[in-house]
Amino acid sequence: MKVLLINGSPKASGNTARALEEMTGIFHKEGVETEILHVGNKVIRGCVACGSCGSTGKCVFNDLVNEAALKLEAADGLVLASPVYYASANATLIAFLDRLFYSTHFSKAMKVGAAVVVARRGGTTASFDELNKYFTISEMPVASGRYWNNVFGAAPGQAEADEEGLQNMRILARNMTFLMRGIALAREKVGMPEQEKITFTNFVR
Ligand SMILES: Cc1cc2nc3c(=O)[nH]c(=O)nc-3n(C[C@H](O)[C@H](O)[C@H](O)COP(=O)(O)O)c2cc1C
Repeated sequence: MKVLLINGSPKASGNTARALEEMTGIFHKEGVETEILHVGNKVIRGCVACGSCGSTGKCVFNDLVNEAALKLEAADGLVLASPVYYASANATLIAFLDRLFYSTHFSKAMKVGAAVVVARRGGTTASFDELNKYFTISEMPVASGRYWNNVFGAAPGQAEADEEGLQNMRILARNMTFLMRGIALAREKVGMPEQEKITFTNFVR
């Protein structure tokens, strides 16, 4: 069982990293393998809508996005964590996620997703919704905690004082582990849901 965790903060040891650390502590206790990919400190351009991935299944810009695609394909779960910037997820992370989800053709169905947002004060639920949308367009069940998954803090280290937020990270990691295990069992016992060929109906007349 393996979880890929994406740190969307430019800071390696900021509050987002602290939230992820609380989750990985539980994953390791539960015997779940983890890999943290630091995305927020990279220079990652946005999608140029060239359509090349339609035939290749990978992004025309051969950077961290294509590396992450291999990791995501092998993972049972994906955690997307971001600091809140102007009531939105970090722009670098969004550029990365747009290209990752758009360019890859492998099925993400039943990989469990969890979104985590970190803020000084506001914009958490909008950012949380933004990140969850990558899961819910990809047949990915969403793991939840005891609150919308946010951790509060401004300067690095301040998240330490958000006891409820950190507790929720532990709960979230346990719930995610349970869901991944349940899905693995269901896959073995009853198989995956039937897949249909996708129909695109564009609203253009
Ligand atoms: C450009 C920028 C915009 C920000 N916008 C918000 C915001 O809209 N709401 C908020 O509560 N905090 C905002 N913050 C504060 C960060 O979300 C907060 O410091 C967070 O802990 C950073 O996480 P990190 O330490 O993992 O980078 C902003 C910070 C920056 C640099």
